This record gives sequence, C-alpha cells and structure tokens, in this order.
Amino acid sequence: MSKKVVLIGAQWGDEGKGKVVDLYTEFADIVVRYSGGSNAGHTLVVNGEKMITHLVPSGIRKPGMKCIMGDDMALDPDVFKEETGALRVRNIDVSPKRLFISSEAHIVLSVCKLLDGLREGASGNRIGTTKRGIGPTYELRAARVGIRVGDLHDPRNFDGLVRGVYEKIAPEIDRLRRDAMPKCSELVEELSRAREIFLPYVANTSKMVERACKSGDNILFEGAQGTLLDLTHGTYPFVTSSSTIAGGACSGAGIGPTMIDEAVGVAKCGYMTRVGGGPFPTKIKGELAEQIRKTGGEFGATTGRPRDVGWMDLVALEYAARVNSLTGLALTKLDVLRGIPVIPVCVAYKYKNWVVKDFDDLDAHDLELVVPVYEEFLGFTEDLNRVCRRSDLPDNVKRLLGRVEEIAEVVLLSTGPKAEETIVFRNPFAEVSDARTF
Ligand code: IMP
Repeated sequence: MSKKVVLIGAQWGDEGKGKVVDLYTEFADIVVRYSGGSNAGHTLVVNGEKMITHLVPSGIRKPGMKCIMGDDMALDPDVFKEETGALRVRNIDVSPKRLFISSEAHIVLSVCKLLDGLREGASGNRIGTTKRGIGPTYELRAARVGIRVGDLHDPRNFDGLVRGVYEKIAPEIDRLRRDAMPKCSELVEELSRAREIFLPYVANTSKMVERACKSGDNILFEGAQGTLLDLTHGTYPFVTSSSTIAGGACSGAGIGPTMIDEAVGVAKCGYMTRVGGGPFPTKIKGELAEQIRKTGGEFGATTGRPRDVGWMDLVALEYAARVNSLTGLALTKLDVLRGIPVIPVCVAYKYKNWVVKDFDDLDAHDLELVVPVYEEFLGFTEDLNRVCRRSDLPDNVKRLLGRVEEIAEVVLLSTGPKAEETIVFRNPFAEVSDARTF
C-alpha cells in the first residue's frame, strides 16, 4: 500500500529537515517539494563534497527517484539553472525524465528580487527576508498578475504579461530607487530565457501524484521553512509569504487531504533557532548562545546570517502539532547540547498577569513581551552517537523525550549529522521500532 508522508518544519525553519528528508527518501518513490522558493537551503553531501540546493528537492540524489516541484512554489530561473548545472557536474541526473515542474508554479522575476532587496534596505523594515524575491512574487500571484511556468508556452503573450507586472511593481521600485526599474523589453527577454530553462521540465504534476498514489508508490512531501513562518499560522507579519504547514502540501501538490497518511514535524531537541526579524520568546544571548551556535553550525544556509538561539519552546511546539495535525516528531541535533548541565524547556508564557499555554492566544507583538516559564531538565555528558536504541539513552534524555511526547510521538532522534547517527523509533513508511538505522 502506498504511504504518503508530509515532512514539515515545526519551528522557525532550519530544524534539520534535510537529514530527515534524506533518510525518508530511501523509502519514497517520489519527492514533492510543495511551496516556497530559493529562500530555503538544504545542504547535500555528494561524493563527500558539500553543496546547497535551494529549489530542486534533495531526493534528486537518489538514482531513479522522481522529484516534483509543485504548484505553490516560486521558482527563480537563474537559481534553477545554476543548481541543475551544479548537480549535473556531480553526475546527478537532472533530466526531465525524473525532474518535473508544475505549470502552476510562479516565476520569480529579477524585479521581485530587486524590490525585496530595496524594501529590506529601506528604513523601518524589520522582516529580515532572504532577499530572494519571495514576498513580491507571491504578492503578484495574489494580485493575479503573476507569471506562471505554464505561461511560458506562448511567447506571444509575454508583452501583456510583463505589462501587468510592470504596472504593479514599477511605482514602488521607482519610489525606493529612481531609474532602477528595468524596461518592459528587458522583462520580456527574461521570460524568453526562463522559457528555455523551464519548459522542458513542465508537467501535469498533480496528475502524476495522483497516479503514483494509485499505483502504490510511496510519496514524501517535503516542506520548506517552518510552521512558525507560515503566512497564515506563523508569527505574522514576521513570516514568509507561502504556506509552510502540512496542509500546504495539498494545495502545493494538487491533491486533497484524504490522500495524506502522516505528517511528521521536525524540531531541534532542547533548543531552537530563528533567523530574520520577529519574536523569539526563549531566545538566549551570551556565551552559552555562542557555544550552541558554534557547535550546531547555526548559520543560514541561504544567507550565511548567524541564527538566533533559544531554548526549546513547547508552547510553540504544541501549537505546531495542532496546526499540522502531527502524527510524529523527528527530533534533531540533541548532540549539540552535550555537556550543558541544565536544559530549560519552556512550558508556558507569563504575559502581564496571565499564564498563557496556547501560542495563538498572543500575536507577534505580545510574544515580544512574554516571559517564558521553564521546566528544567538535567543535561547529559554521554556520547549519544554510540547509542542504538531508545532504551539505551541516558535517563536524563529519556525524561526530556517523555516530556516532548506529551505533545506528539517522537518517531526519530538524530544524535549527529551522519545518517548512522540516528535512532529510529518508528518509520512512517515502514513500521520499524527502536532500530538504529533504516
Ligand atoms: P522570505 O521568505 O525571504 O520572504 O523571508 C521571510 C522570513 O522568513 C525571514 O525572517 C527569513 O529569515 C525567514 N526564512 C525564509 N526562508 C527561511 C528558511 O529556509 N529558513 C529559515 N528562515 C527562513
């Protein structure tokens, strides 16, 4: 029987989804990336060499795997060209036989990136975007003048399409930097280049996914960013412009919710990070934060920005479990906290005179003002990467997992960057319990 599993970030992105995607990929026949664009970054190790992909699903590494870039994605043709080129050089097949792009995905135009950058440079802006043109691209989509990959079929329409974009975007660009707006003819040329890049890959991806389900294939839906960056359910307005939650997989893959079997959320264990603006109730500063940042390599894969570091927030995690209807949690990077004597875990917020336990009872502004209520867990000094079974974990770690499991079942614990450094409690694609690796 076909299994369909959505994997999403349960925090503010950068939870270590890449490693879990790589592990689950072994069991999947198709990987579908369903939203976002090159604001995401996933570090792949190919033949011992590191490379970062932003658009192409990481399942591309597995020979024969079909990879879909779905309906709700925002695709930058330059990034796609560079990325497929880099993969090809490493002997990875990126041909249209196995890589498919939805005709409904939107194109990130250079003016979208320009506007994103200009807005970030303007005074008063505190979103801290990746400047990859994501916001402006989704704004054009919502305004119904965005340009979709499927629009590239007929160049006779390019002039009209470009005019729609121009009218929406030129006044703001002009206001932020006079004379920076390119001419319409340049945008038309850009579309012609995008046409050459994307057209060979265009497919009816929704139909492909449906057929795959019916023929018994296992499908992994790969989320990008994290729940708390979701346009609707995140810490608005400090969010990205797409749907990052599990529900987004349906819209972004062109299927209905009854198709999905499981939703697994990925969260760092014991700590969490955030990059960009917005509230972060459990954020810590000083030497300990610096130590965790360094040990965990907490620097943005796309922008290189140092990530803010804080303790694990179970108020936020419980919320993520709810809005994603999580059936499991994959906990990552616990090894980063080895040697830290006490691990405080946030279980509630104090806000004015109230104790708040529901994340969405507060807005982003309120969240700036809360004082976290912590439960303290003793740390561990043992080298976890020698541990093969849950039963062999140090008692202090078991206690921490037990507390997290009051929210959702922990299905996987990652104790180091390597694939072997993983304890699988349950594999959503194939029922396995308490075995070290797949
Ligand atoms: P945008 O998606 O570039 O518009 O950025 C909006 C917010 O989402 C900013 O705070 C970014 O730092 C954050 N963001 C976007 N993509 C990622 C990601 O892949 N990991 C972590 N944060 C992200």
